[in-house]
Amino acid sequence: MKKSIILIGADSFSDAQVFFNKFEKEKIFIIVDANTNKFCLDIFFSFFPFLKKSIILEIEAGELHKSISTIIALSNQLIKYKAEKQSLLINLGGGVISDLGGFLASILNRGIRYVNIPTTLLSQVDASIGGKTAVNFNQIKNKLGFFYAPSLVLIIPGFLKTLHKNELISGFGEIFKYSLIYDKRMWNVLKKTEFQLGSILEDLISKSVIIKENIVQRDPFDDHVRKTLNFGHTIGHAIESVYFLDSKFNHGICVVIGMICESYISNKLNYLSDSTFLEIQKTLFSKFSLSKINNIEDVLFFIKEDKKNKSNKVNIITISEIGKAHFDVFVSEDDLKESLIFFNSLHE
Ligand SMILES: NC(=O)c1ccc[n+]([C@@H]2O[C@H](COP(=O)([O-])OP(=O)(O)OC[C@H]3O[C@@H](n4cnc5c(N)ncnc54)[C@H](O)[C@@H]3O)[C@@H](O)[C@H]2O)c1
Repeated sequence: MKKSIILIGADSFSDAQVFFNKFEKEKIFIIVDANTNKFCLDIFFSFFPFLKKSIILEIEAGELHKSISTIIALSNQLIKYKAEKQSLLINLGGGVISDLGGFLASILNRGIRYVNIPTTLLSQVDASIGGKTAVNFNQIKNKLGFFYAPSLVLIIPGFLKTLHKNELISGFGEIFKYSLIYDKRMWNVLKKTEFQLGSILEDLISKSVIIKENIVQRDPFDDHVRKTLNFGHTIGHAIESVYFLDSKFNHGICVVIGMICESYISNKLNYLSDSTFLEIQKTLFSKFSLSKINNIEDVLFFIKEDKKNKSNKVNIITISEIGKAHFDVFVSEDDLKESLIFFNSLHE
């Protein structure tokens, strides 16, 4: 997979301009959802006025629209506007837009170039980087997808000003993940950090991008170390699939619940000490507002559908200390169930 150019903040706008200038004579399409059309598009044009000539394609906001039917609708539009191999697709939005737009870019004319301009915290620190693109299918998260890297990722923290607080918190979930799998110092900072905008957050965004990019470059296709980025996700994705339309269970929150459960299993399998497990569980449970899981059997059903499973065995990421993760750990259904029951017991 080719390496993306990653630029952060206003200081990098001149470099971004140089990139966009290459498409002066080409058709440029910008995918937005209803919210990023309202809150981000004009700001984006104020930075790069020449992109006002782009064709805007708006979709409805939300995970429900990260679907093959949206891909079909957008493909019809791109064909109507005569998109070509040389055209550029810009994804202006959160992880839904970058996953969906990236997948569309990968299949249109067997691949056109695309840019991610992430507008949520979660997409700035995670979804926009690394070239994993996908749509959900039959309610299974990211079932249809492809590795296809954006040519450019331009991260503008200023976009976060209009983000709903719950979405900001969701992004912090993934930042906590980086600390648990990679960086104990970051964990110690995060424990004391409020969920708010500012220079501390901008520093955390840069650190997260460096960690993700470092891991992706070592293992672009998820064969080994990149799998550690899935810490909390085997269980988290299954919870997200069950509570698809429930805003209490957005991506980051589900990952946090998944990290508590997968830390529980790490401790049960003797990877992780009792004291570190207690520190992780207490910190995450107190910092995030996490609802109980009422449909454990449904969550177990979706865990069995996870892409990482092999020969019907469920595969999770474990940690042995804060900052050290292990991949390809196969676990029993009983341990998965026990971890979810344990999570629910924290609410008593
Ligand atoms: N490809 C990857 O590596 C990767 C990694 C992590 C997550 N993901 C995917 O990312 C998705 C979640 O991303 P997300 O949390 O960004 O969700 P999202 O794209 O649905 O955005 C969340 C909400 O915020 C709104 N929004 C976006 N930017 C805004 C802004 N600046 N101001 C106001 N509102 C704004 C959106 O319209 C939406 O309603 C999931 O589908 C997940 O699977 C992908």
